[in-house]
Amino acid sequence: MRIESPRYTERFGSVRINDVQQVLELDSGKARELPLQENIAVQKVEEDVIKDFEEKMAIIIPTKDEKLKLFEGVISGVPHECMIIVVSNSQRRRVDRFRMEKDTLKQFCHFTRREALVIHQKDPILAQALSDTGYTSILAEDGLLRDGKAEGMVAAMLIAMVAKKDFIGFIDADNYFPGAVWEYARCYAAGFSMAKSPYAMVRILWRYKPKVSAGMFFKRWGRVSEITNRCMNSLISNKTGFETEVIKTGNAGEHAMSLRLAEILTYASGYAVEPQELMSIFEGFGGILPMAHPTAAKHGVEIFQTETRNPHLHEEKGGQHLLVEMLLPSLGVIYHSPLCEEETKQLIIHELLQQQAIQTNEEPPKPHLITPPKAVDLKKFTEVMAQHMKSYSALEAEE
Ligand code: GDD
Ligand code: MG
Repeated sequence: MRIESPRYTERFGSVRINDVQQVLELDSGKARELPLQENIAVQKVEEDVIKDFEEKMAIIIPTKDEKLKLFEGVISGVPHECMIIVVSNSQRRRVDRFRMEKDTLKQFCHFTRREALVIHQKDPILAQALSDTGYTSILAEDGLLRDGKAEGMVAAMLIAMVAKKDFIGFIDADNYFPGAVWEYARCYAAGFSMAKSPYAMVRILWRYKPKVSAGMFFKRWGRVSEITNRCMNSLISNKTGFETEVIKTGNAGEHAMSLRLAEILTYASGYAVEPQELMSIFEGFGGILPMAHPTAAKHGVEIFQTETRNPHLHEEKGGQHLLVEMLLPSLGVIYHSPLCEEETKQLIIHELLQQQAIQTNEEPPKPHLITPPKAVDLKKFTEVMAQHMKSYSALEAEE
């Protein structure tokens, strides 16, 4: 594929935040021995290079009671070389939706000759294995994993570590376009191929997010993302003393990380997870608080923001979902970060009051934080999980 080179990079301590890079060509043709013309503004990422990175990457699909047809479309778009890990919090009573997902995945793997892992978020073996290693911040009072997208993501991340992958990429299960899924995975691979640091992250920016009203309207920004980006940019501007708008992907659900980076970050419950990943990077490597990890600080943490070509169309969840489950927790992680100064706090309160998400004199709630996965004794966790890996394999799933 052909993609813009990072043109502008903002630095925050040892964090390098690259401004948005556009995809120019989804398919840039055969590898040629002699480049036609050296063009440093644009990079051609060869197919073989993309495949090499895809081979080392697990695509994690968090799902909770999504339409099976959408799930089926999403898995069909994941490039063949990537391992698929599905982490589901779908209902099992009345209608066993988890079983339906497993069956769909099994059939897909059977006909496409590939391997995938599928696990339920409330799996008791998983919970026990984590509890045995003392990793309790992800557990609920009943001893099982807490509900929430972030909790599912972290569980799948640990499974990717057991499967010895180097990279993980997240893709939601409610996407209407398999072609978009395919493009996300390729952008992840292309981003990692450009990274100079082993501690790298790729975040997707949708070119258009169509809204169906009277006709179809191709909207560029989501309302929640717009506000989150504004508040995060305010925080960076106040810390560096230079006004910036570099953050354009504060809420990017579609994003990928090297596992070396993923394992040292602190996560926030539910939908606050994506802004918290950035806050955790700024706190750990922004040079203001003590460096979280000396080796990573030495290499630097690199963030890519890639604008894809396919429009992003997913299920509209409506109701209070955007306000209560997304905006409030997203701004909550910025507000309660030890980096957050008064001006940004005031901006957050102002935005939340305007959206009627809080009342006067109220603050956004403190996020529930999940300790970095590095805290898990991976050897012990692997020993337990390895005995059960067969039961998580989609091909082995019982009929
Ligand atoms: N395993 C698991 N556990 N998956 C979950 C859970 C859970 O408790 N809750 C939701 N999911 C799955 C959904 O089924 C879907 O595949 C994905 O997580 C995203 O959830 P949505 O409910 O579709 O979120 P959204 O579309 O409003 O927001 C998405 O985009 C935002 C902006 O990019 C999410 O990815 C957000 O995290 C993101 O900030
Ligand atoms: Mg969605």
